[in-house]
Amino acid sequence: MSDPLPSRTQVVIIGGGPAGTLLSHLLDRSGIQTVLIEQRSRDYVLGRVRAGVIEQGSADILRRAGLAERMDGEGLRHSAVNLAFRDRLLRIDFEELVGSSIMIYGQTELQRDLYDARESTAGAHMVFEVVNVELDGLTAAEASVSFDTAGERRTVRCDFVAGCDGSHGVSASYLPADNVRAYEHVYPFGWLGFLTDTPPVSDELIYCNHARGFALCSMRHLTRSRYYLQCPLDTNLEDWPDDRFWEELSRRLPSEVAGTLATGPSIEKSIAPLASTVREPMQHGRLFLAGDAAHVVPPTGAKGLNLAISDVVHLARALDAFYARGSEAGLAGYSATALNRVWQAVRFSWWLTTLMHRLPDDGDFGLRIQEAELEYLSTSMAAQTAMAENYVGLPI
Ligand code: APR
Ligand code: PHB
Repeated sequence: MSDPLPSRTQVVIIGGGPAGTLLSHLLDRSGIQTVLIEQRSRDYVLGRVRAGVIEQGSADILRRAGLAERMDGEGLRHSAVNLAFRDRLLRIDFEELVGSSIMIYGQTELQRDLYDARESTAGAHMVFEVVNVELDGLTAAEASVSFDTAGERRTVRCDFVAGCDGSHGVSASYLPADNVRAYEHVYPFGWLGFLTDTPPVSDELIYCNHARGFALCSMRHLTRSRYYLQCPLDTNLEDWPDDRFWEELSRRLPSEVAGTLATGPSIEKSIAPLASTVREPMQHGRLFLAGDAAHVVPPTGAKGLNLAISDVVHLARALDAFYARGSEAGLAGYSATALNRVWQAVRFSWWLTTLMHRLPDDGDFGLRIQEAELEYLSTSMAAQTAMAENYVGLPI
């Protein structure tokens, strides 16, 4: 049970997803006091099914922060991914090409590890199921965050506010409309996701470019698979019983792979739209945005969680420099520093999405361009290296 909520702290963190919880953990390790508020319940947050690819740089950050014991014990280390096209498999061996790997470890598991770390830290303040969150004083001598919790209206005064409240949060609305630039690209399709307790069809991820549409073979661990099918935005889950999903997936896989597909009942099915959005700048006065609150990427490159981690690392370093040495340079430069890596990830996610999906608006010309690029990838080590270094994550 955490201590009674203080009326003042150094940093109020809005949002108890990966960004907010990791930030509170990193700041705590620097001796910086935080109060984290989350609108959902702890169990609701842990019930979300999200991508499970952890870049090498992200994994190293989690290790240095003492958060990686279960990931290293239960996660799967992958040294390559595969691209499938024209009934062929092209293996991109990032271990060989750039000397890096990724960890396959569900975001749900990472979130559990983050909550466990916070709840085992004396003095950690996390408040769940808050509503009516309001920010004030963002350009004054002191900021404050007010919210309803357990039927009471509470206000916590602070030096800084970290907006880690995701793409539907409240923080971004406090960026001055006349100073924020929102960049958006909406893809004309979605992903139909399917979670099942069956052995993965492959021991590595397979991204499939097929005339019927994109497919992705992923996993959570060796007995739990995660599959995706590109689908129209108006797709209705009721029209996709399990049998239909399995049949369509096997049609989009290379024949050598489809033949080994182990089918079973779905334990979760969902449809997600694909979009890229970036808000610039990611800060205003005493408010700093991190993670999905500032930017959203299509899941193709598995960059969402990893960008949340890199934003938080930059913000934690800047806050640490402020409190430890009175330096404001990191805080002043936070947005520019974070956005540099954000845009590299947005570009890569756009590239892989447009390379592997059926883009009806691009017609036959677009199809031939995709095939030419995949053919080039299959013969060029330079092209494969470029993909590899982006997939495993550019330096933070
Ligand atoms: N007050 C408090 N909490 C809020 C509010 C609010 N007004 N609005 C949203 N939240 C909470 C959400 O309930 C959620 O738990 O903020 C949290 C934001 O978490 P995420 O959406 O997971 O975003 P982030 O922490 O940036 O992590 C990004 O998570 O959603 C995935 O695909 C995304 O992998 C990426 C990663
Ligand atoms: C997942 O396992 O959910 C996953 C993996 C890789 C992606 C997207 C999603 O690019």
